[in-house]
Amino acid sequence: MSAKVLVVMGSDSDWSVMESCVDQLQKFEIEAEVRVCSAHRTPEVAHQLSTTAADEGYSAIIAAAGHAAHLAGVMAASTTLPVIGIPIDSSALDGLDALLATVQMPPGVPVATVAIGKPGATNAAILAAQIIGAADAGMRARLEDHKATMASKVAQKDDALRGKVSGS
Ligand code: RP5
Repeated sequence: MSAKVLVVMGSDSDWSVMESCVDQLQKFEIEAEVRVCSAHRTPEVAHQLSTTAADEGYSAIIAAAGHAAHLAGVMAASTTLPVIGIPIDSSALDGLDALLATVQMPPGVPVATVAIGKPGATNAAILAAQIIGAADAGMRARLEDHKATMASKVAQKDDALRGKVSGS
């Protein structure tokens, strides 16, 4: 059975950022259940999803929200699964508000908070793969491939730039 991750976001307006998270999960062959639920607008749904996630077989929860972003913290309050929080840059403060609300959890209830916006959405998926990979050799192999691909792209860019500079 392939690993699965629960991905929640505060609004469908977060999808343009979160699409890259789900794409990256699929590249690692992780099944993603995607739901819109809000700490403020649908707190009962958020609570129900987080309390049942472990029994449903999810390995981790990824939670994204903007503004006063309490969704990841609310999910973390009622699960023992690792929760990864993505601050979304949807407010007048460009996500700084969401970053602080997501990362500044009180002692006892951690949220593994990644960068604001799309870079964080991609990194949340990679972090979920790394959590799963701790007990899954196949996932670790996919993560190794991912690192090798990144390194090879940087080497190509290095070659191209050195060629341009030395040719000028
Ligand atoms: C947050 O408020 C959501 O996560 C979203 O980033 C932001 C705006 O939501 P909408 O007004 O577009 O539904 O709760």
